[in-house]
Amino acid sequence: MVTILQNISLKPYNTFGIDVQANQFVEVSNQIELKEALAYNQEPLLILGGGSNILLTKKFEGLTLKNNFKGIQVIKETDEDISLKVGGGEVWHEFVLYCVNNNFAGIENLSLIPGNVGASPMQNIGAYGVEVKDVITEVEAISLKDFSVRNFTNQECDFGYRTSIFKTTEKGNYFISSVTFRLKKQPTINTSYGAINSELENRGIKTPTIKDVSDAVIAIRQSKLPDPSKIGNSGSFFKNPIVSEAKKNKILEKYIDAPNYIQPNGMFKMAAGWLIEQCGWKGKTLANYGVYDKQALVLVNYGGATGKEIFDLSSDIIKSVEKKFKITLEREVNII
Ligand code: EPU
Repeated sequence: MVTILQNISLKPYNTFGIDVQANQFVEVSNQIELKEALAYNQEPLLILGGGSNILLTKKFEGLTLKNNFKGIQVIKETDEDISLKVGGGEVWHEFVLYCVNNNFAGIENLSLIPGNVGASPMQNIGAYGVEVKDVITEVEAISLKDFSVRNFTNQECDFGYRTSIFKTTEKGNYFISSVTFRLKKQPTINTSYGAINSELENRGIKTPTIKDVSDAVIAIRQSKLPDPSKIGNSGSFFKNPIVSEAKKNKILEKYIDAPNYIQPNGMFKMAAGWLIEQCGWKGKTLANYGVYDKQALVLVNYGGATGKEIFDLSSDIIKSVEKKFKITLEREVNII
């Protein structure tokens, strides 16, 4: 039997620490409970994983469903790799540590990303040269319409930069019950991202293990990004914009150091954090919220801010980047 709670605060369930109420709230840990909970369905429906990629701007007048599907199951193992089917409600970083400790390689660069396993394919989480799409073989999802179970292959997930089919054509249609990852037992270390190399060099490490890479990533993230248990935030608030070569060149004419990265399709990814910093927002504090002082891509709630205040700040940032660079930033965080 699931317990439906009435009128509870969602503050403990979102890393921004926004205090809004949900009419109804329920945690589900298996398919039967999910079905039972949805019998109470009060539209709209909000599915919560770790609550690390949402900004709650108002009272939620429906049913909030927290994904508590747990478990790590070995599906297949060879000398080269291992396939693990992992419950959507498992905490992402705990799963990363489990893999690092067992020497299963592939997600060590994704250490310390807040959130749950079920949310990882949704926005194709990525950091330090790796995206989760590189190791996902299958996503098991339950239809919210008829409770049928569907397995999406990697290709069917239609992964892109911070996006997947679950954020586009199938948005709101599925509950992610588990994700299957194929990890390597003979690690290929990926230190292509400059900051990892310098961190390893500082530590005097020449032939890193996946544990060394994970430790380096943890140190880099801790030095740049706020810890959500201390300062409310949702990681990068905006996506890095992808622009044409002409637009990139125009910016470089004036700002020779503007970070830019060529994409496989010949377009260029610009650093949103850099653009925002150029507009003077980095470290700006308005009452009890603002722009983080070590990474301008991150908006922060120092305590007691409303989602609407943070949303309005993000709109002001978008406007000023548009004015200065003629680039329209897109929010990465889901606005509820
Ligand atoms: N930069 C600035 N000012 C800033 C922030 C960044 O000039 O305030 C410059 C940096 O100096 C660097 C460039 O912008 O030259 C890129 O910065 P960084 O390496 O910090 O990465 P990012 O592009 O800002 C992305 C991800 C992060 C991920 C890092 C590391 C997105 C939206 N964000 O940030 O992901 O950790 O790369 O791989 O793609 C997240 O999604 O929540 C997240 C934290």
